[in-house]
Amino acid sequence: MYYSHPHHTLHFLLASSALTHSPLYLQGQTQPAASRRGAAGGSLRAPAKMGEITNVMEYQAIAKQKLPKMAYDYYASAAEDEWTLQENREAFSRILFRPRILIDVSRIDITTSVLGFKISMPIMVAPTAMQKMAHPEGEYATARAASAAGTIMTLSSWATSSVEEVASTGPGIRFFQLYVYKDRKVVEQLVRRAERAGFKAIALTVDTPRLGRREADIKNRFVLPPHLSLKNFEGLDLGKMDQAADSGLASYVAGQIDRTLSWKDVKWLQTITSLPILVKGVITAEDTRLAVENGAAGIIVSNHGARQLDYVPATISALEEVVKAARGQLPVFLDGGVRRGTDVFKALALGAAGIFVGRPVVFALAAAGEAGVSNVLKMLRDEFELTMALSGCTRLADITRNHVVTESDRLRVMPSRL
Ligand code: GLV
Repeated sequence: MYYSHPHHTLHFLLASSALTHSPLYLQGQTQPAASRRGAAGGSLRAPAKMGEITNVMEYQAIAKQKLPKMAYDYYASAAEDEWTLQENREAFSRILFRPRILIDVSRIDITTSVLGFKISMPIMVAPTAMQKMAHPEGEYATARAASAAGTIMTLSSWATSSVEEVASTGPGIRFFQLYVYKDRKVVEQLVRRAERAGFKAIALTVDTPRLGRREADIKNRFVLPPHLSLKNFEGLDLGKMDQAADSGLASYVAGQIDRTLSWKDVKWLQTITSLPILVKGVITAEDTRLAVENGAAGIIVSNHGARQLDYVPATISALEEVVKAARGQLPVFLDGGVRRGTDVFKALALGAAGIFVGRPVVFALAAAGEAGVSNVLKMLRDEFELTMALSGCTRLADITRNHVVTESDRLRVMPSRL
């Protein structure tokens, strides 16, 4: 199928004694880089000067300096202990490479197709809410940068620009992230508007019957600033968020979002739209099978940037289980913790058809507007291409399971086909 690439599975010796014969790098515990320097939301690197930015993580410290605390905390924070937030990064750092050498890598093609749409690279923009809190141009800037990079932008239901406004920025392949409201008329209307505005798929968020407990938002009494609104809902009297005793967003979700959402609603959605539906928030084999059975066009392995249920595994750790359960019947994508081109490669090696990047886009938007988002996409692209070259891969189809070693491999393991 167009979206799959070969996964030459490793054949492992299951005997644990294999460990004693393993090459050193297979045995050794790698010290996760992320834990040494603090993960996504923890201690930040010193802010780089704008001209000196050399990786996407450096935008976060600049965003922290620039943004009001309430806005920065909303983007940066995650649920409760933020264990999953750290783990989304650290799990990537526990995956190592098995690069191949002496392969002609003078030409590298990283183009791909997603749901039949040709894009420049397997790196896409995840939905993140309320982008005008980060920068006055908000979703407009993100849409332009994604389009210029030749990739897909996913617009959040809770955007501060409407589907029509984002469409007016010009051509581009765009998906629409959907929250299902209690009032299904609202949902029907919105999905139709997205379809009319040229959006190509619905990314249905399924991990948010209630909002996760984000303590920074509770302390800050988070609320959307009064000069902004959730533009997709403006005419429906649902565009504003009332001040609450804790998180205004949590109260908004409790009041408006449908907790009864179930698989039958995935079917229902298919009766109101012909757009393909990506189920966003699957992290188990069981739900993967149900997604296939209920007509999903694809799955996004996501833990909502660690903002919902804390102590779920990192998405990169859950990916292989989902990929195996999908049995090639639908494409599997991933978001969560992708900060390096090496992360993109690791996700593809474990079976992802592409990845989505969230917080780095918002922090770059805050730091430098459209140019920041463009730079994030460019840096990830360049790093990914370099990883391909140094691993001996010239096309995405060349990336295989044999190019990486995971923790569970290290526990079991010795590739029998060395
Ligand atoms: C929005 O989707 C959020 O997680 O805050």
